[in-house]
Amino acid sequence: MGIFKNKSIIVTGGALGIGAAASEAFAFEEGNVTIMDINDEAGRKIEKKILEKGGNVQYISADAGIGSGCKKIVEKAVSSYGGVDIVFNNVGIQPPDSYLDAVDLPEEVWDRILDVNLKSRFLMAKYSIPYMRERGGGVLIHTASVQGLQSMGGVSAYAATKGGDLSLVRQLSLDFAKDNIRVVAINPGAIDTPMVRNAILGTGGDLELELEKTAEAHPI
Ligand SMILES: NC(=O)c1ccc[n+]([C@@H]2O[C@H](COP(=O)([O-])OP(=O)(O)OC[C@H]3O[C@@H](n4cnc5c(N)ncnc54)[C@H](O)[C@@H]3O)[C@@H](O)[C@H]2O)c1
Repeated sequence: MGIFKNKSIIVTGGALGIGAAASEAFAFEEGNVTIMDINDEAGRKIEKKILEKGGNVQYISADAGIGSGCKKIVEKAVSSYGGVDIVFNNVGIQPPDSYLDAVDLPEEVWDRILDVNLKSRFLMAKYSIPYMRERGGGVLIHTASVQGLQSMGGVSAYAATKGGDLSLVRQLSLDFAKDNIRVVAINPGAIDTPMVRNAILGTGGDLELELEKTAEAHPI
């Protein structure tokens, strides 16, 4: 029996990259997966792939950066799969045009990155935890980043969200331990996903060269 059998699992930003791989892995272990994304083409593609392999999955189009989007996704998971056990708070953006220092970064770009990368964590906790309590517990897994621990130039908004997310994880885990809800973070290094490829291309880098250099920086 799969380790996630009968578990209802939400993956935010699950159409591409780390979220898509995680959605496949949860479904392979018999989880009932609700994928949230705004890229409908990619969302429908990963949904079809998982269904064809016999997995249980639904793709729902919703914006993780706004309350109505997060509420909708939780309600869809509850109506289809009877509750919520696990939320993989994975969604994140680092648009190529955000690689600017604080003087040059437009306020609206700062706000959007904060909404998608950090506010979404609060919103998903707000709407999913009442249902986790009904099930007697649950888990929230946050994708933070090495950039929450150590930064680089020109990424003020992204770095702030990742540091903030690590702090939020510690805070939520204190508040909800009594409800048997664990809140944990993972801090990936560089992973070859559309986000990384877009960042290299968008900032004028040579894709093959930069991917090679990045791989060398991560010894196996
Ligand atoms: N790839 C890396 O090297 C790396 C390293 C450290 C941390 N991370 C973190 O891992 C997470 C996933 O990154 P990735 O590389 O897989 O990214 P990605 O860009 O490849 O995939 C992100 C997915 O989120 C979706 N998305 C974007 N905005 C959304 C919104 N408002 N609502 C719903 N969905 C939305 C996108 O459509 C996409 O499907 C992010 O939190 C990122 O910060 C990535």
